[in-house]
Amino acid sequence: MLRSGAMTGFTHVTRRTGAPLRLNGYILFRTMADEGEILSVAVCGQARRRGVAGILMAHALQDMLDAKVQRVFLEVGEANRAAINFYKGINFEIVGRRHNYYGSASRHKCNALVLRWTAGAQKI
Ligand SMILES: CC(C)(COP(=O)(O)OP(=O)(O)OC[C@H]1O[C@@H](n2cnc3c(N)ncnc32)[C@H](O)[C@@H]1OP(=O)(O)O)[C@@H](O)C(=O)NCCC(=O)NCCS
Repeated sequence: MLRSGAMTGFTHVTRRTGAPLRLNGYILFRTMADEGEILSVAVCGQARRRGVAGILMAHALQDMLDAKVQRVFLEVGEANRAAINFYKGINFEIVGRRHNYYGSASRHKCNALVLRWTAGAQKI
């Protein structure tokens, strides 16, 4: 996805003297005209609940605002309470639902919620 040139990705790393860089999390997004899309955000288990996703998302939203983006969309599994809580806390709102969006014919399928963040009086 990054090689296609159409996506931007940020990573959050920790540097300790003498130790290799540790990757805590990443975010991947793209912009199309005045809309943005978060394609993926994830934080490794040991680094969760320390604000890493919040930092990654703040940088991604600022990058998109600088590119004059007005709205940002993403999809999240309906059962993913951690992610939904996270997105709601930074003012994403639910604007749609895609039935049986995740999974395959042989696996359990689940719905996705479509969330939208609107530029304006939103905190980032
Ligand atoms: C969702 C995810 C990215 C959050 O990353 P994180 O760095 O732990 O999030 P933050 O520390 O920035 O959390 C900010 C807020 O989000 C909410 N939140 C985050 N994880 C939560 C959880 N497990 N349960 C409830 N609320 C949660 C809380 O409101 C939290 O604030 P608080 O810690 O002060 O209560 C992380 O849990 C993850 O990588 N999950 C697996 C991948 C995934 O589901 N990605 C999203 C796919 S759409």
